[in-house]
Amino acid sequence: MIHEILRMGDPRLLQISQPVPDLAAPELKTLVDDMFETMHAASGAGLAAPQIGVPLRLVIFGYSDPEARNARYPDADPVPQTILINPAIEPVSDEMEEGWEGCLSVPGLRGVVPRYSRIRYRGVDLQGRPIDRIVDGFHARVVQHECDHLDGILYPMRVRDFSRFGYTDILFPELADSDD
Ligand code: NI
Repeated sequence: MIHEILRMGDPRLLQISQPVPDLAAPELKTLVDDMFETMHAASGAGLAAPQIGVPLRLVIFGYSDPEARNARYPDADPVPQTILINPAIEPVSDEMEEGWEGCLSVPGLRGVVPRYSRIRYRGVDLQGRPIDRIVDGFHARVVQHECDHLDGILYPMRVRDFSRFGYTDILFPELADSDD
């Protein structure tokens, strides 16, 4: 089922989400299915459970088809399709880099956000199997963005240079047919 995606200004996006208590709960599988359906319908690169009003530490991101290029991020490196539950992130070094971000909860806008260049992230998937990856580039950016949602942080809260924050169709006319 496709859910409504909460938009910036909704206080539920500012909540600290709770750890997922029970991986075996049948409603968890339904939640994940609904999140993928909702993310794909919106052509997103990732989605966090609180964006559909569920305050749990669960994010999804990436694409099942490595050849697929996300319409909103056509130049991005491929990111494996991932269900990440109860994640923990640590930077591998202090190095930061700037990059453009958008968010399905902030439709129509993009901004440049500083993120750690290289991170290690850990968590479990829906079957409880551990995930432990060291990643960089767009993959690292997506994970940091999505996990921020679990702590009530939206990317505009991390923008430092508001001269590089604006409407997607003005900044990137070539992306004008994407639906945010
Ligand atoms: Ni977002």
